[in-house]
Amino acid sequence: SPAPFSEKFRPQYHFTPPSQWMNDPNGMVYLDGEYHLFYQHYPDSNVWGPMHWGHAVSTDMVNWEHLPIALYPDSLGTIFSGSAVIDHNNTSGLGEEGKGPMVAIFTYDHETIGQTQGIAYSNDKGRTWSKFEGNPVLDNPGIPDFRDPKVSWFETGEGEGKWIMTLAVKDKISFYSSPDLINWSHESDFNPDWASYGGVWECPDLFALKTPSGEEKWVLIVSINPGGPNGGSATQYFIGNFDGSSYTADGQEIKWIDYGTDNYAGVTWSNIPEEDGRRLFIGWMSNWDYATIVPTYEWRSAMTLPRKLELFENNGEMLMASRPVQELQNLRTTSENIESNSVELSHKLYELELGKEAGQTASLTLSNAKGDQVVLRIEEDQIVLDRSKSGDLSFYEGFGKVQTAPIDGIQITDLSVYVDRSSVEFFFNNGERVMTAIIFPGNSLTKVDLEGFGSQNKVHYLESIWAQ
Ligand code: FRU
Repeated sequence: SPAPFSEKFRPQYHFTPPSQWMNDPNGMVYLDGEYHLFYQHYPDSNVWGPMHWGHAVSTDMVNWEHLPIALYPDSLGTIFSGSAVIDHNNTSGLGEEGKGPMVAIFTYDHETIGQTQGIAYSNDKGRTWSKFEGNPVLDNPGIPDFRDPKVSWFETGEGEGKWIMTLAVKDKISFYSSPDLINWSHESDFNPDWASYGGVWECPDLFALKTPSGEEKWVLIVSINPGGPNGGSATQYFIGNFDGSSYTADGQEIKWIDYGTDNYAGVTWSNIPEEDGRRLFIGWMSNWDYATIVPTYEWRSAMTLPRKLELFENNGEMLMASRPVQELQNLRTTSENIESNSVELSHKLYELELGKEAGQTASLTLSNAKGDQVVLRIEEDQIVLDRSKSGDLSFYEGFGKVQTAPIDGIQITDLSVYVDRSSVEFFFNNGERVMTAIIFPGNSLTKVDLEGFGSQNKVHYLESIWAQ
């Protein structure tokens, strides 16, 4: 069998598990120079099964070191999605020598007990974990879908605060609060009638972001499956206010983080130092419609590239951009200007930086000699992503369905495109609109055909993070 990370379709600069099944990113937390990434993992098969938390660390969210599995199922259930925090004030009392522990808050899934919330703690930077003896810390109230706790510290005054848990409960979000991560009380529910309810709500996140004029807003992220704008799983978000107890959304527009089919269950890192101040996001680069049957066998699924979330204003409306993080530039080897509208690239891993005039329609075709292709068209009022001839589609009937994203009057002047072995990510205007899609071409798509773009186009060749 091929060496790990060199198998057919294996992403070369996206995070993938060493082997077997992966879904949601979990427990993302930053501590002492390390970005932690845990993930839904079934180490015994390449399809979903009894969930564990896999674990990896990185100093730049781009190059990853795999660590041993952090959380295993126990008598209370298997370990579903959740979050991690640094309990700086040791409110939980689970720290050692006066230091605040790293605490993971996750869902236990159990056949008869149902879904409850549990916690585990680590006093050695996430290397070893103990489950809290008093688990579960939040019992099931008789609802089958009661999961994916995202916990953050909410400041109520000078040095004072409380923990807020944002939880997905069937088709609403419930907020709970706690002084110590152990005792939780229900605060409120959020489920406005105009939101998207095509499926079950999962994997929420809640955080503050500043508007361009410096006003503080609260963003609530809610993944939904199915019911996405192009079918299957997708992630909606709300912009509004949170007062420490309840959430209210501004406006009544459904907003999507990514219009492509393959960015699900994404959430953000906690404990990013104030002097950095970024809100950093990563998603699972797949879709429950076909995640378990894509044509990869040694491993299944990758994460999206890491993204920085920022608010921007578009024609009087506040929206959230997902911008590729600047650390991705660590991947660049050589860069070249693209001098003609039809070029054959000399390497398989690359990033295109394309410029165009606002209002101008444009198209981009990535192809190979086998005839596999991905076509992206920027039309007057929508973006069209066509992977209907992108290679292997046979595993799922709807895989080749054309995907669209509304432009909503955004003046698109640039596009960056990241191509890995089995994915394409399109960032319009540095992430004001995004489309992420997985593909399974017979060969890398190294031929680039451009129409309607300007003369300032570039390619950056990227290196594999797994090569020795
Ligand atoms: C989302 C999800 C979560 C759940 C996990 C189980 O993809 O369904 O709601 O915690 O996956 O693996």
